[in-house]
Amino acid sequence: MYIVFEGIDGAGKTTQIQLLKEWLEDNGFRVETLVEPTDSEVGKLIRRILQRQDATTDVVQKTLGLLFAADRMLIMDELSDESKIIISDRSFISSLAYQEPADWIEVLNRYAKKPDLLILLDLDVKKSVARTSGEDTFENEEFLTKVKDNYLNLVKNYEHQIIDANNGVNKVSSDIKKAVAPYLGICQDCIL
Ligand code: TYD
Repeated sequence: MYIVFEGIDGAGKTTQIQLLKEWLEDNGFRVETLVEPTDSEVGKLIRRILQRQDATTDVVQKTLGLLFAADRMLIMDELSDESKIIISDRSFISSLAYQEPADWIEVLNRYAKKPDLLILLDLDVKKSVARTSGEDTFENEEFLTKVKDNYLNLVKNYEHQIIDANNGVNKVSSDIKKAVAPYLGICQDCIL
């Protein structure tokens, strides 16, 4: 099973993925986690570009679109490992939410693996801005408002669960477990 976590910056994806991984392992599942952008050479280049002040301009966004697609092409085989549950921190759906134009991004990601389950951690934009460092150019209110709207439209295309990420860590974690449990035959009422 390929589970993808998406959400605007600061939504808590990293923490929640770790908690979900531990819980699934306690329930006897083999789990692997992945992060996009990866730590490949392409991923490192992406992180440098994200810190540029002009990262939201049209030409840099198109360049990032290419780089993100190339970075994920490099992990394509890992995503197809069916012997375990793969939980990914972001996917091509991030590119669709953050980069433009949509038709260009769709073409670049034509071969990207679709999630079996998409979990959207839905956070208020103001909270996102307060939680993030502001180091990346994407971490500003206007840009993230657009990204959040994009996400809410995009999720409809996939098997998905929207989780309110404005709550505390434990509440969000238990909401995620309750959302994931039915897909894996785990007893929903047993979750605290
Ligand atoms: P993020 O998960 O926020 O990394 P970190 O925890 O190091 O801040 O990802 C970095 C940024 O990259 C984030 O602002 C979202 C952006 N991004 C895209 O714009 N397109 C993509 O396809 C991906 C995977 C990420």
